[in-house]
Amino acid sequence: MALEETGIIYTFDKARNYTDNTAFQPIACLENQPMPYSDLPVTPVTQSRLSQVDFDNLGFGSIFSDHMFSMVYENGAWQNPQIMPYQALALEPGVAMLHYGQTVFDGYKAFRGEDGQARIFRPERNAARLHDSCQRLCIPIMPVDELTELMIQATRQLIELDHAWMPSAWGHSLYIRPLIIATEATLEVRAATSYRFIIMTSPVGSYFTNLQQGVSLRVEDRYTRAASIGGLGAAKTAANYAASLLPGAQSRAQGFDQVLWLDGNEHRYVEEVGAMNIFFKIDGRVITPPLGGSILPGVVRDSAITLLHDWGIPVEQRRIAIDEVVDALQAGALEEMFGAGTAAVICPVSSIGYRDEVYRVASAPPGKLTLRLYDELTGIQYGRIEDSHDWNICLPLPQPATDDDAS
Ligand code: COI
Repeated sequence: MALEETGIIYTFDKARNYTDNTAFQPIACLENQPMPYSDLPVTPVTQSRLSQVDFDNLGFGSIFSDHMFSMVYENGAWQNPQIMPYQALALEPGVAMLHYGQTVFDGYKAFRGEDGQARIFRPERNAARLHDSCQRLCIPIMPVDELTELMIQATRQLIELDHAWMPSAWGHSLYIRPLIIATEATLEVRAATSYRFIIMTSPVGSYFTNLQQGVSLRVEDRYTRAASIGGLGAAKTAANYAASLLPGAQSRAQGFDQVLWLDGNEHRYVEEVGAMNIFFKIDGRVITPPLGGSILPGVVRDSAITLLHDWGIPVEQRRIAIDEVVDALQAGALEEMFGAGTAAVICPVSSIGYRDEVYRVASAPPGKLTLRLYDELTGIQYGRIEDSHDWNICLPLPQPATDDDAS
């Protein structure tokens, strides 16, 4: 079928209120809920690269599956959605994204369950966040429900095509990375008029290899990740990650794994850790900084809060000053501390370096609650534990696959 014949063209609906994501409902298994979109046109690879992949040494995000989703925004409309071989992009050096950073991305995972099904974890949340990121970066985007359906359809097709790329080892998964970039060649500082939307997939191992030891953090009190008010912090966009690189490198040079970010206004309140949301357990209470525009609204953050509520453990979403954290560390009251994010899921913190002192978190990582959350979340993701919140979209894989597929 010629691409023009797909009939799928998305136009930018300016009248819609894009900020309210509360209407989002979890989506049940795909086999129970057919997608309203017909299959996207596919150009398959002529030669798979799968045999080159060492599934025992996946690392994170350096291997890309055979196919990707692609769509363009031109002449005021999103058009030509299709699946094609993963390939280099031909970009003029003058494209706006390269100069002014008009780009957004997101990330979610699909897991191979022992029952032969793939489970895509809460992709509708990532679609909603991508939608909001587009709005903040002035990228025209289709209505959020259409974007969600399109991303789920594209993900489903990518997984069906590249199912053999989905690892089967515990802790491994298929990371799905949507990306939108401004492709208009212009040096004028304004929103571009053309864009490319890609969804690529990557078989990944654990993001951190030292889960049992936990990660060490250095409190960053000079640089900031994002402005406190009115900045880009809640958007998943390149600038936030670019801002994190120098402090990240300085932390590693000083022997720490990650940065503990403070607010951009006073350098007083804790915001995030590395590229994750942060949780503290102090004197039996769980505390996490509130979403307020500078913090990324993490899907795993939301899932962890939901599980904690299920277990009758109240979570305080409130500002927490670094002084309160240090006081709790000194008093031995900081029982557990962990990061929550798509890549690492739940990541225990072992120690914090702040102003020439290094403080150890009371419980040996991972703490009891940290481990319970990790086990529950990964159990749901791999289909070992009942998915009572309907977070997974289940997708039967075309054939039972094993690691032998990779060899
Ligand atoms: C996440 O874990 O949520 C991330 O965004 C990490 C990614 C930037 C590698």
